[in-house]
Amino acid sequence: MASVHYTCLMIMAPTQENVVSAGAILRSGGIVGMPTETVYGLAARYDDDGAVRKIFEAKGRPADNPLIVHVASVEQAKTMVKAELHMLMELLAAHLWPGPFTMVLDKADHVSDLVSAGLPTVAVRMPNHPVALRLIEECGSPVAAPSANTSGTPSPTTAEHVIEDLGKDVFILDGGSCLIGIESTVALVTADGLTILRPGVVTAETLAQITGLPVSSNANADQRIASPGTRYRHYAPRTPMKLVETAGEVRSALAMVEQKVMVLARTDVWPEFPGLLMGSLTEHDLYAELRRADDLHVACIVVLCDGVLKGQLALMNRLRKAAGEDNDEEAGT
Ligand code: TXA
Ligand code: MG
Repeated sequence: MASVHYTCLMIMAPTQENVVSAGAILRSGGIVGMPTETVYGLAARYDDDGAVRKIFEAKGRPADNPLIVHVASVEQAKTMVKAELHMLMELLAAHLWPGPFTMVLDKADHVSDLVSAGLPTVAVRMPNHPVALRLIEECGSPVAAPSANTSGTPSPTTAEHVIEDLGKDVFILDGGSCLIGIESTVALVTADGLTILRPGVVTAETLAQITGLPVSSNANADQRIASPGTRYRHYAPRTPMKLVETAGEVRSALAMVEQKVMVLARTDVWPEFPGLLMGSLTEHDLYAELRRADDLHVACIVVLCDGVLKGQLALMNRLRKAAGEDNDEEAGT
């Protein structure tokens, strides 16, 4: 007799009923995959240490890498941080929330050391996605949520990517493909100025314009220590990556490899590489293309970082880290 296999895929349409179920899972100490405008997150109640531990376990995330607390209102965000910083937070929130901007601020005493990885600060963001906001409201409390990938791999930009990494048992609300495709800008916010810990689509210029405060980047090693997560290898496919600057260097790289290679480049320059397997090099497409290269078992991904691309700081940051060119140490997870 033919056997029938039922596969229990937990990718759920974001109907009111399913958002209510997801909220109930969170309230009872479970974890839920949620769409945001940047990448998918893996959410748990921020104030339930048992639930937060499940996030670290599911991702294989090092315990010294803190999580972002996602809120649905500025009022919720204010309860997470010290009162002295409320005005500055509200100013930034008025311009940038909901949106791809995460503020790291001195944390209120009740925020658990598990979420902040023992740091005196907490990262807070209001995502610009109706499903994420409804889920947080349904949960009745802010949620801690890192990107919903296995630690070290490219962040998920579809619900299917989440399943690939975390398996079929996670309840995921499907919001389709994420609009932005790379993670939020993370900035340390103090009364004296801001420090960008992770570049994103919100730029240093925008932050300086809004606040009138100096804005620096975490380029030097001392400041890097302030954001533990940036030490680890991130965003990396299994396939080796090689970053080059010219079409000529792409051809030399191809000549060295006999097996199938993917060339990742802006679509404008694709006509220069007829007959090759090409991948689209934009913020929106990057992580999906890195995962496609893994699925196709190509021998190498050659990335053309031309002059235009060099100006895209956030994209260049992800590429350098994915290629292993910009990591102080590797997580090995
Ligand atoms: O767009 C995003 O930010 C996505 C979506 C799901 O919201 N989330 C995300 O989370 O990228 P995650 O955990 O993959 O990256 C958070 C980054 C890490 O590099 C972490 O080290 C840093 O933010 N971070 C979190 N809390 C921090 C803190 N208190 N101080 C310094 N860095 C912090
Ligand atoms: Mg991440």
